[in-house]
Amino acid sequence: MFTKYIILIFKYILFISTFVILSLPANSELSVEEVIKGRKALFSKNYSTAKRVQTLANKGEFDKAKTLMLEMSENYKILIKYFPENSKEGFKTEALPTIWENKKEFNDLMIKSSNDMIKLTKVIEGTDDIGGTIRKFMWSNCKSCHQRFREEH
Ligand code: HEC
Repeated sequence: MFTKYIILIFKYILFISTFVILSLPANSELSVEEVIKGRKALFSKNYSTAKRVQTLANKGEFDKAKTLMLEMSENYKILIKYFPENSKEGFKTEALPTIWENKKEFNDLMIKSSNDMIKLTKVIEGTDDIGGTIRKFMWSNCKSCHQRFREEH
């Protein structure tokens, strides 16, 4: 009888601590190296996803393309958290200081890029200019952010 309660309390503590750990901000424990390498990896992933979005849409495989568009949209939201003050230098980052001098503008561009991917899921099927639509809602955002906030290479 008594042990039953102990087990119950133990399970409760386990449940609460899992919940607390999961709800901590994603990058609260990441080192500078993990932050910079992490964001580079996410941008690279978005790039290969973007190319797949284009290919799938051109083939008329809209359902698959839309799933990937939403994935990219989510990744942009995650990326906002990957530019803390202590990650301006090192580990071959191409991020420019202009990011931290214009943080709101930078974050707004991320949010716009994220929202545009959702808009793209809504307009892609109805257009007769798939290439132009993808350029407008996807590729143009990469370019406008890079030319202002990423080192030329
Ligand atoms: C709001 C800003 C912003 C948007 C939008 C954006 N990027 Fe970037 N991107 C950056 C920054 C800043 C870096 C540099 C990160 C670093 O080196 O720390 C970067 C880096 C990259 C890299 C290099 C990653 C590496 O391994 O060094 C690739 C590839 C890339 N972006 C592709 C894209 C593509 C494709 C899109 C659009 C589909 C895009 N980005 C949209 C800001 C942006």
